[in-house]
Amino acid sequence: MADAQAPVRGRWRPGDRRIDRDAMLRVDQAGEYGATRIYAGQLAVLRGSSPAAHLVTHMASQEDRHLARFNQLMAERRVRPTLLQPLWHVGGFALGAVTALISEEAAMACTDAVETEIDRHYEEQLVALGSDDPELAGDIRQFQAEEVEHRDAAREAGAANAPAYPLLTFAIRGICRAAIEVSKRI
Ligand SMILES: [Fe+2]
Ligand SMILES: [Fe+2]
Repeated sequence: MADAQAPVRGRWRPGDRRIDRDAMLRVDQAGEYGATRIYAGQLAVLRGSSPAAHLVTHMASQEDRHLARFNQLMAERRVRPTLLQPLWHVGGFALGAVTALISEEAAMACTDAVETEIDRHYEEQLVALGSDDPELAGDIRQFQAEEVEHRDAAREAGAANAPAYPLLTFAIRGICRAAIEVSKRI
């Protein structure tokens, strides 16, 4: 018989006490890794002197810090990374490069969409964790605040002026949700 208290793989629905914290850390590390790759792709395209490149450089440095912290927690807790890391390596970079090739505003719309989903994702994790694991929850809360800053900065920088903004952000949010779901499990 299955242990009722055992974590359910890839699962942390609000109110569910059987939280799989290894999967939580795995998907968070994957997301931060993807973020560093998106910004690397954008910076490969954006003109170095542009305000957009300046903003992206700032956001990328925060993503590096988020990623480093999750890497550290994974090492301490002996959690393996997602097997899909090579896919996020290529896919994240491509998403960043393609949006930046469309326009600076499209690059901002990409951040707008990604951070909207990451904010929702971190919020869901914080609700699921409650008072469990204050170490992990503290990091998530701090990173969530910075992701919301990124989203707002991208909106201020003209994300909504991107071509086909509703369709573009809808598509990117869908990609993020799919990436989150598979990284929880694989
Ligand atoms: Fe981040
Ligand atoms: Fe971010």
